[in-house]
Amino acid sequence: MRLAFEVCSVIFTLGSLVASQSQSAGQKDTISTTIVNFNNEQMQITWASRELFPGENVSFSYTFEGGQHKLWKPCPTYLLDQGFNSGCLFKTEGSTLAISIMNNNGSKELFSKRLKSDFYIKPNRPENVTFLWKDDTVTVSCNEPKRAVKCLRLELQYKSKFDKGWQSRSSKCCSVGEQGFDPMKCYSFRVRLKRLVPYCNVVNYSSDWEAETFWMNGTSLDSCDDDIKSQSNTIILLSCMLAVLLMIFLLLILLCKWQRLQKSVMPVIPDPKYVFADLFNDHNGNFQESSGQHCKQNSRAFAPHGSLNRVTGWTVAFSCLPKQ
Ligand SMILES: *[C@@H]1O[C@H](CO)[C@@H](O)[C@H](O)[C@H]1NC(C)=O
Ligand SMILES: *[C@@H]1O[C@H](CO)[C@@H](O)[C@H](O)[C@H]1NC(C)=O
Ligand SMILES: *[C@@H]1O[C@H](CO)[C@@H](O)[C@H](O)[C@H]1NC(C)=O
Ligand SMILES: *[C@@H]1O[C@H](CO)[C@@H](O)[C@H](O)[C@H]1NC(C)=O
Ligand SMILES: *[C@@H]1O[C@H](CO)[C@@H](O)[C@H](O)[C@H]1NC(C)=O
Repeated sequence: MRLAFEVCSVIFTLGSLVASQSQSAGQKDTISTTIVNFNNEQMQITWASRELFPGENVSFSYTFEGGQHKLWKPCPTYLLDQGFNSGCLFKTEGSTLAISIMNNNGSKELFSKRLKSDFYIKPNRPENVTFLWKDDTVTVSCNEPKRAVKCLRLELQYKSKFDKGWQSRSSKCCSVGEQGFDPMKCYSFRVRLKRLVPYCNVVNYSSDWEAETFWMNGTSLDSCDDDIKSQSNTIILLSCMLAVLLMIFLLLILLCKWQRLQKSVMPVIPDPKYVFADLFNDHNGNFQESSGQHCKQNSRAFAPHGSLNRVTGWTVAFSCLPKQ
């Protein structure tokens, strides 16, 4: 079985060699195109239109069956890059494909190529993926694709919260196993299908990853960082509330300080009538100084000072005479 498969591969490779040699004889095959055959159902061929054909809106045509009947079909669905044709999508209808790129009015061929469409297959994602846990061993399986199962490998990647990168394991389609899983740890798993290179594909294409799943000791979980997430959410909420409280507190302190500052900048000026209440009332403005001088109040007035014309004090004038 395996021998027959390898013989087939060699014949395929030889075939493509012959094909590539026959086309390099005289044809323009120097430009680079990207060829993808999605699950052997749809072809996508793209080219760098801006670099290869600046200012030219090229047209694309193709034929299967080796172009025996020379039934060339125009591109049914163009891909555009800034308004110019830069790729084509069409149905995969055979394994031998010839493509041609012409200038706008179809008077000149700019590029042509013959190729084996099944050397460019990108498989679909694995279907109906199942996980089987037994002690510390996991076996992952998927449905067998309808065709070319021998060309496929099932790749399994997994990591725990504590692993930096993915651990990888691959096996022939459609089952892959790994052991040594810690029952106390949650693991993320993902799987994809890979085409064998160079036996089946000339390019290294794999399917997209099937959606990640999370497991711990045989139990499927929504996510591995569920508890961490909800915990961190609570912490965020709490610290937000704390911050708001702190702000209010700081604002209150500032308000108090401001009131005090206002008082010190614009002090309430005491009326000397009250300060010198004794003086004015008891002695009717006259008082005997201890040194023995007799003093008499002459005037009492507001004394404006400073540029803001703020009242900052009182001026009280006395005239003192030596005691008789
Ligand atoms: C190029 O041709 C495609 C159809 O073949 C058309 O949709 C597109 O508008 C054209 N672009 C320019 C710049 O003429
Ligand atoms: C087609 O376009 C090319 C320029 O791209 C021009 O040189 C040629 O004369 C055109 N041929 C016809 C038949 O219009
Ligand atoms: C695979 O899953 C699809 C739905 O996703 C279902 O219709 C189909 O029967 C499943 N096949 C097998 C073999 O379980
Ligand atoms: C294919 O690609 C994978 C990574 O995507 C790489 O590890 C591998 O070496 C490649 N194989 C070939 C033959 O280029
Ligand atoms: C893991 O699962 C097995 C079977 O369900 C159970 O016997 C075992 O106690 C579990 N281990 C832990 C650490 O939860």
